[in-house]
Amino acid sequence: MSTLRQARGDISKNMKALKLEARKFSDSIYTMKGISKKTVEEHLKLYQGYVNKYNEIQDKLASLTADDLSKANQVYSTVRELKTELSFAWGGVVNHEIYFNHLGGAGGKPTGTLFAQIEKDFGSYDSYIADLKATGIAARGWVWTAWNYREKRLCNYLGDSQNTYPMWYVSPILAMDTYEHAYFIDYGVNRASYIQAFFDNLNWDAVETIFAKTSGIK
Ligand SMILES: [Fe+2]
Repeated sequence: MSTLRQARGDISKNMKALKLEARKFSDSIYTMKGISKKTVEEHLKLYQGYVNKYNEIQDKLASLTADDLSKANQVYSTVRELKTELSFAWGGVVNHEIYFNHLGGAGGKPTGTLFAQIEKDFGSYDSYIADLKATGIAARGWVWTAWNYREKRLCNYLGDSQNTYPMWYVSPILAMDTYEHAYFIDYGVNRASYIQAFFDNLNWDAVETIFAKTSGIK
C-alpha cells in the first residue's frame, strides 16, 4: 500500500465507538405536581435525541481518517465539529439523567450527612436554597449543586449550556434544568414557579445517594 493510500485510510480501527442506551426513569416522573406529564414526555424526547446524537458522533469519531486529522482546523473542520458537539451531546445525556433520576419525589429537605454538609458549606439550609434558586433564575440552561473535590465542599454552579463553563475538580450531585423546554408548557415565562415545583418534586434520597458516592462522606 502506498504511503498516500495509507494516509487516506481508516486510521481509527483500534478506537472503540462507545454506545449509550437511553435510561428508564421512575414512573413517578409522569405524575408530578406542577410539572406535567406532557412536559416530561417532550423533555424525554430531547434526552433520547442526545443519546442518539452521542452515538452518531462516536461512530464518526471512530471512522476518522488520516486525511480528516490532517485537515484539523480551529475555524472549521470535521475534527473540531465532532469534538465540540460530542461535549454538547454528552452534557445533554448525563445532565438529564441526573435530573430525571432525582425527580418524582416528595420534596421536603435532605437529611443526615448531606444536610449537615449543606449547613456547613452554606451557613444554613435556607441560605443554600436561596442561592440555588437565584442561580437558577440567573442561568440560561443548567445549574448544579456540586461537590468540589479540591475544596472539599458543596457549591452551586451555573453552566448555561450543556458544555459551557466547565469547572474542574467538580462533580454534580443535583442538576436543575432551566432551559425553557423544562417549564414553558406549564408556566410560560414564569421560571420561578417552575423552580419551586422542581424542589417540590425532588427526591432527596436520590441526591443523598449521589452525594455519598461522590464525596465519600456517609
Ligand atoms: Fe432539558
